[in-house]
Amino acid sequence: MKKKIVVLTGAGISAESGIQTFRGANGLWEGHRIEDVASPEGWKRNRQLVLDFYNLRRRLLLSVEPNEGHKALVELEKKYHVVVITQNVDDLHERAGSSLVLHLHGELLKARSTLDESLIYDWREDITSEDKCELGFQLRPHIVWFGEMVPRMEDAALITEKADIFIVIGTSLQVYPAASLLYFAPSHSRKFLIDPNADELPSKVENLRTIKASATTGVPDLVRLLMSEV
Ligand code: OAD
Repeated sequence: MKKKIVVLTGAGISAESGIQTFRGANGLWEGHRIEDVASPEGWKRNRQLVLDFYNLRRRLLLSVEPNEGHKALVELEKKYHVVVITQNVDDLHERAGSSLVLHLHGELLKARSTLDESLIYDWREDITSEDKCELGFQLRPHIVWFGEMVPRMEDAALITEKADIFIVIGTSLQVYPAASLLYFAPSHSRKFLIDPNADELPSKVENLRTIKASATTGVPDLVRLLMSEV
């Protein structure tokens, strides 16, 4: 039976594709307060600002491509059972070819009803104040905002608990509950953390090897190592 690899990714894996990370000098939130563009309160206060913000993100996403980091993870599927759990709302893992991708924080290329959250639509255009669900209610970005539940968290935890190998790539591990997945991985599982600022990240986790590298070099290197082992 194939060994199970679970990969947790954050904004860092898409940085070299041209999508800014959230925290740090050029963080995405610069110029925008998080509570204005990524919270239910912000949506109530100024819906147009929120729509504009995500419309811009969606347009940018459609102009960029997956990088060598996303692509290397696909290679692992030849010898391992791989699940990618991503905090990213982009579709770069899917476009690279990953088969199993769980989006913890939603998806930029989907819109959903403000009345019934089970009404979700594929969406590649701007969302405007004219766009309504089939029941006639305004559509919003299919994004988990601050203060909202993370509906896929339980699934993500159950998957992580079964990992033989757990790989974390490009996340500051500052946002919960996503960051707690590191602690759901079995203590005996091998863990790798790839991040150019890996020094600053928590290391009170058993069997964790930190690799201080960017995604486009660190991920292909690790994948080569893991592929040579089976
Ligand atoms: P952050 O912006 O908090 O962290 C990005 C991480 O990527 C940092 O640790 C960087 O050191 C690292 N990084 C930067 N460049 C990199 C590269 N080329 N290769 C690898 N790593 C690199 O982003 P997240 O941890 O993903 O939530 O943020 C978590 C959540 O906070 C996001 O999903 C988003 C945000 O609020 C929602 O939108 C709901």
